[in-house]
Order: sequence, then structure tokens, then C-alpha cells
Amino acid sequence: MSIKSITCTFEEYTSVEALAASDRLLVEAAVSAMQSAYAPYSQFQVGAALLLDDGTIVSGSNQENAAYPSGLCAERVAFFAAGSQHPDKRMLAVAITTSYPLPQPISPCGACRQVMAEYELKQGASIRIILASNGGSVMIVEQARDLLPMYFSGEWLRK
Ligand code: THU
Repeated sequence: MSIKSITCTFEEYTSVEALAASDRLLVEAAVSAMQSAYAPYSQFQVGAALLLDDGTIVSGSNQENAAYPSGLCAERVAFFAAGSQHPDKRMLAVAITTSYPLPQPISPCGACRQVMAEYELKQGASIRIILASNGGSVMIVEQARDLLPMYFSGEWLRK
């Protein structure tokens, strides 16, 4: 028997203003994306902005539904939109934010992590995750897989 551990490394910034200009722009796009959130049940608006390798930014916001599980997080709205509309472009980075004033950024749910991890596998390259709070700190993870150690890999199912 042996005991093993997995660590998650990330950068922490005190505020959005401390980010590199390109990352700041992506956070601003995520803030704008929040305007289209449809969150009448939670009142918790989330925005995501996904940067592709040709400079396109695909945005998403959370879309809720009276049949609760039918809704979708902002991240998956953006990733599925990019996957379906720009299947051949590489995904470089995604910024995720909420208007809710919290000292630390929100962090994607398990299902969104699984989706992001698989797009990394599909494109054979990592996707930077920028988690920005409203008025608080920012965290940057260099690859989505770092957020979901031991994620389920579709490799075994691919023919
Ligand atoms: N939500 C997101 O869109 N992304 C996250 O990372 C966390 C949660 C949404 C789902 C739901 O519409 C609302 O926030 C409250 O959970």
C-alpha cells in the first residue's frame, strides 16, 4: 500500500487590475456575458468568455429552467457553443465570473470541469482557466485538468 496525493497549483492575483491586459479583456468579456444570464430561480448570474486561437471570443451565461436540472452553467453554454460552431479552432483560455460580491472567485462545478477536461483531450492542448471575483481576488489555473484530478477520460471509449 502506498499513499499518494495530488496537488492543484494556481496563480492568485489580488484583483482584476493586477492581470495581464489580455486576461483582463477576457474577464471583461465574461462580465458582459453575464447580462444575458437567465437566472430567475437562483438570482445568481454567471458569465464565461472563451478565447479561441483565431481571437474569437465565444461567451456564455447560465440558463436556468423551471425543471431545474434542465438548466446549464455559463461555462458549458460557452464550451458547447464553441465546440459546435468552431469545431476546428483551439480553445486557449476561459474567464468565468459572477456579479455576486464574494472575496474569492467562484469555481466551476464538477460537470463543467469534466467538459473542459475533455476538450483539452480533444484538442491535445491545455485551456487556461481564469476565475475572477467581483471586486476580490483572481485565480488562474494553467489547465482545466488540474481542477479535476482523476477525471473520467473518454479515451477508453473512443474507437
Ligand atoms: N453556475 C454557473 O453557471 N457556473 C458555475 O461555475 C457555478 C454555478 C450557475 C448554475 C445556476 O444557474 C446558478 O449558477 C446557481 O447555482
